[in-house]
Amino acid sequence: MINIAVFVSGRGSNFLALLKNIEKGVLKNCQISVVFSNNPNAKGLEYAENAGIKTIVIPSKNRQDRENYDKEIINALAPYNIDLICLAGYMRIVTSELVQAYKNKIINIHPALLPSFPGLHAQKQALDYGVKVAGCTVHFVDEGMDTGAVILQKTVPVYDNDTEESLSARILEQEHIAYSEAVALYAEGLLKIEGRKVITMDKSK
Ligand code: GAR
Repeated sequence: MINIAVFVSGRGSNFLALLKNIEKGVLKNCQISVVFSNNPNAKGLEYAENAGIKTIVIPSKNRQDRENYDKEIINALAPYNIDLICLAGYMRIVTSELVQAYKNKIINIHPALLPSFPGLHAQKQALDYGVKVAGCTVHFVDEGMDTGAVILQKTVPVYDNDTEESLSARILEQEHIAYSEAVALYAEGLLKIEGRKVITMDKSK
């Protein structure tokens, strides 16, 4: 059984999808031990409290001391023996303090097919560029912005009449599936990082 911390900043639908899949038994061998947020008003915190999951909030407003901020997170997480941190709409750049403290134990979901369209407003970036295929990426987190090794990706078509909202909704559906698949692979110990590549090992071997 692995202990997961989910980091949210807002809506929390990816957190909720993970939680539902754990509750349904689709996602096995893991539990969400704590939900962390930098935003006291994050909707995701409400979902966590309703589900009886512990929450930690460290407001990040007006905090420029990123390294110290991340040290506070590390201290706050210590009692939970966390095996995996899932960034789920966590809109703050993590520093090497956190990345090194949880080396290869932090994963993120991004609403684009990385390395295209990193950073903010990824779906709008894709639309503005005129791509015909978009999607989402689950990846390990390193010191860069959305640059870590890719675990898995899902694609969706982009239609001529798409708006940022319609495309985001189509991608979000796939995010909810992709994140649980990636966490399942991690929980089963099937992911091996080799340089930039993540090798998914065969379950039957
Ligand atoms: C999701 O689309 C996620 O991929 C994106 O924020 C949204 C959060 O939604 N994350 C990023 O853009 C990170 N660069 P949620 O709070 O409902 O899970």
